[in-house]
Amino acid sequence: MPGTTDAKKEGSIEDTTYTQNYTRHLERRLRALETEKQILQAERSRLEKDNQTLRTELEKLRQSPLITASVIEILEDGRAIVKSSTGPNFVVHVHSSIPKERMQPGMRVALNQRSFAVTQELPPPKDPMIRAMEIEEAPDVSFADIGGLKDQLREIRETVELPLLKPDLFAQVGIEPPKGVLLTGPPGTGKTLCARAVAHETNATFIRVIGSELVQKFIGEGARLVREIFMLAKEKAPAIVFVDELDAVGSHRLDIATSGDREVQRTLMQLLSELDGFENRGQVAVLGATNRPDILDPALLRPGRFDRIIEFPTPDDESRGEIFKIHTRGMNLHENVDFGRLVSATHNLTGADIKAICTEAGMFAIRDSRICVTSEDFSKAIGKLQSRGKGDQAPSSLYC
Ligand SMILES: Nc1ncnc2c1ncn2[C@@H]1O[C@H](COP(=O)(O)OP(=O)(O)O)[C@@H](O)[C@H]1O
Ligand SMILES: [Mg+2]
Repeated sequence: MPGTTDAKKEGSIEDTTYTQNYTRHLERRLRALETEKQILQAERSRLEKDNQTLRTELEKLRQSPLITASVIEILEDGRAIVKSSTGPNFVVHVHSSIPKERMQPGMRVALNQRSFAVTQELPPPKDPMIRAMEIEEAPDVSFADIGGLKDQLREIRETVELPLLKPDLFAQVGIEPPKGVLLTGPPGTGKTLCARAVAHETNATFIRVIGSELVQKFIGEGARLVREIFMLAKEKAPAIVFVDELDAVGSHRLDIATSGDREVQRTLMQLLSELDGFENRGQVAVLGATNRPDILDPALLRPGRFDRIIEFPTPDDESRGEIFKIHTRGMNLHENVDFGRLVSATHNLTGADIKAICTEAGMFAIRDSRICVTSEDFSKAIGKLQSRGKGDQAPSSLYC
C-alpha cells in the first residue's frame, strides 16, 4: 500500500520539521532564560552588596558615640590628661594603635564613652581657628571714621605696615624695623577702632584674634590656635596679626594655681615663641592692644617682642570735637546744638563715651516724639552718662 507508506513518510517529514522547529524554539527560550538568569544574578549580587552596605551603616549608627577631647598633657606613664568636650578633665589611657610619639598637647582625639580611653586621633579642626579669628578682608572702618589720634595712626602705619610693604627701605637706612607694636590706653579710646581702620586701609592681610576668646572660648586649644594663626599669617604674608585684649593671655601671674591659669600660661608661651620665632623680614607684623599694660607679663615687652608702645590717651578738646562730628554725621541735629559746648562738657570722656552720648541724645528725642535732636537732649545724655559714671566704675568702662 504505497499510499500508506507515502502518508507515513509525509507524516515523518512533518514530525521531523515539527521537532526541529520545536528544538529551535526551545533553544531560543533557553538562551533567553540564560540571559535572564545572568541579569537576575547580577541584580542579586547588587542587592547583596546594598544589603551589606546598609548593614554596616546600621552597625555604625548603633555604635555608641565617641567623645571628642583635646590633649592637655602627656604623663610619663603614657597616660594623658585630656579635656573632654563635655567639660571636665580626665586622666585616661591611650589605645596602643596610637604611637606614643604622636600624642601631643593640643591634639584632638576621640574617647571611648565607657573607659574614656583615647581610641583615635582626630584631624586638627580648621574651624575653631576660623571662629577664633577674623581675617579682615575689608572692615568697614576707615580713617575718616576716627576723630583725633592722627599721631597714633601715623605711627601704627609707619611701624606696622611700612616694614611689611617696603622692607628695603629699612635695610637702606640700616635700622631694624620694630617687630611688635602695642596699643595701650583706657577702654574706649579707639584702639580696636584704629587697628580695624589700618586693616581697611592696608594692603596686608589683617588677622584679628581676641585674647579673651582664645583662653575662654577655646579652652585647651589656645596654644595650638596661636601656632596656627601664625602659620596662616606666614602663608598669607605680608600680614598683620592683631591680638586684641592682649592682657587676657599676657597678664603677669605670680603663682599658677588653677588649670585655667596654666592654659593661659601655655597660650602666652606659644605667643612668645611665635614672636621670637619669625624674622623681621618674614613679612609678618604683630599688633597688640590692651587696657592694662601694667599687668602685662614683662616677658612680652622685651626687645624683639612688643617693643614699641603707642599710647592712646583720652581725647583732647579738638579730638572730642571731631569725634562728636563723626558720630552725629548721620543725625538730624537742631540748629541749637553747639559743638563747642559739647566739647567743654565732656572732659575726660572717651570716644566710646561720646558715641554713647550721641545715641542717648537721639533716644531722648525719640522718647519726646521728635525726629530732631536738640542741645537739651545732649545735655540730658551727658548728665545721664556722668551720673552713671559716679558709681564705682569710670564712665568709659560702662561702654566696653
Ligand atoms: N577716636 C575715636 N573716633 C571715633 N570714634 C571713636 C574713637 N574712639 C572710640 N570711638 C568709638 O568707641 C567705640 C569703642 O572704641 P574701641 O576702639 O573699641 O576702644 P578700645 O579698643 O580702645 O577699648 C568705637 O567703635 C567707636 O565707635
Ligand atoms: Mg578694644
